[in-house]
Amino acid sequence: MAGTGDRIVIVGGGIAGLATALHLAPMPVTLIAGGGLGGECSTRLAQGGVAAAMGPDDSAALHAADTLEAAAGLGDAAVAERVTRAAPIAIDWLIRLGVQFDRDAAGAALVLGLEAAHGRRRILHAGGDRTGQRILDTLVDAVRAAPSISVLENVWADSLALGTSGEVVGVHLRQAEVAFHTGSVFYPARAVVLSTGGIGGLYGATTNPLGSTGSGLLLAARAGAVLRDLEFVQFHPTAISVGRDPMPLATEALRGEGACLINGAGEPVMADVPGADLAPRDIVAATLFARIARGEDVFLELPEDLARGLAHRFPGVAALCAANGVDLARRRIPVRPAAHYHMGGVRVAGNGRTSVAGLWACGEVASTGLHGANRLASNSLVEALVYARWIAEDLQSAAAGSKPPKVVPPSHRGGATGHAAPWLRALMDRCVGVARDDAGLREAVCDLASAAFGRDGDDHTLTALLIAVSALNRRESRGAHRRHPQTSAEGRSSEWTLAEVRAQVLELTSGEPALQEAS
Ligand code: SIN
Repeated sequence: MAGTGDRIVIVGGGIAGLATALHLAPMPVTLIAGGGLGGECSTRLAQGGVAAAMGPDDSAALHAADTLEAAAGLGDAAVAERVTRAAPIAIDWLIRLGVQFDRDAAGAALVLGLEAAHGRRRILHAGGDRTGQRILDTLVDAVRAAPSISVLENVWADSLALGTSGEVVGVHLRQAEVAFHTGSVFYPARAVVLSTGGIGGLYGATTNPLGSTGSGLLLAARAGAVLRDLEFVQFHPTAISVGRDPMPLATEALRGEGACLINGAGEPVMADVPGADLAPRDIVAATLFARIARGEDVFLELPEDLARGLAHRFPGVAALCAANGVDLARRRIPVRPAAHYHMGGVRVAGNGRTSVAGLWACGEVASTGLHGANRLASNSLVEALVYARWIAEDLQSAAAGSKPPKVVPPSHRGGATGHAAPWLRALMDRCVGVARDDAGLREAVCDLASAAFGRDGDDHTLTALLIAVSALNRRESRGAHRRHPQTSAEGRSSEWTLAEVRAQVLELTSGEPALQEAS
């Protein structure tokens, strides 16, 4: 691996990683795509589009205001203002790369869709609800054609390589097929960018690929990075409830086009809630969850014209319904909330830098301050795109180190890869899900801690523990974190390091000597 220390390593091959690699050209970049380039990632599944204020009645200020309203008091106004101003530039960049966003019948104007909690039509789609797939395919083609980008497929980052001052100086890599650590290879880098996506695979009910288990979050945590707002997990209200794992999605854009939520008796479910069917996502998810907990079924009812034109306007949802035996002639799609997006992540500054020297983060793994306690629909692809550019600009202006780094040997052995265990996913659904309380969160922390610090502990239990500890410590309800009863109103972001989580677990489990010893 000699001679690669002037490279930038990007870990993760979704929209955030691909866009960062392309913006960095012609600087030499190595992109680590664990599951293969263009393979399983949340970007591919994204039905909703990209939010950008491009309509004549819209502005970045209005988009920022909607973003902050949804963020429930924890959004960063300066970040929202900067991201929403940059959003149309990101769209132009995608169009120049070849993404064909949907246009009107004359093929001239971009079609702008409406989604929940957006005050204006500002969602761009490509191929109807196949936006993520179209963007991903275009970015993958561009990356494959870029001579500055080397792609390592079916290789995993086992840990971040640290120098003697705690700075990131590369990654320790291993082959995907090797389930347990049998020795990794040091791959030096002048900077590492994490773009590993979210954590939905830690939940039983999720719309994410099952491999989305927060690997990047844990890489950063083990390197000592500050993590922010981990308790805020967004549940999408309308995952299609047909027994599939992960759950297929019925995009929120359907409600923007007139679909409404009803119960088995055909009564509207959202009628008495402010914002009704277009209320913010956390409110819709919590309303549906409460109904389902009372034994009701919930359906997304399509108006007749939408049901008739579904295959044309929403081909992805129509195909998913057909493949899963949902009879569109009945115009009812069975739905329920499912873990969908992680607002929390590795804390980053406006240039994507984490608290650890040499480490940047982009996309869902990062916490930029844009989403606060609840993300506005279709704001994630755009966030990844604009931060990818800002990270590239920052790296282009930063000088490479002149001396080869001294590397500290890795301090942990890699745990299980692949999907999270069924018991863990069930525990997260039950105790760290849409509705939370003190007893459930304590149960989750204790069960996860004994697994994470016990003999069979793996990365998934430790990552889930980080989320559970953050959730236990937020004693209020805010955005996607709904806690009953709430005993304080904190109103500020939470920040944790892995060392602080360990210390708190020790305190909480002081009666359990086995745990004390292990942690
Ligand atoms: C959706 O299409 O409803 C999902 C969009 C998103 O999560 O941003």
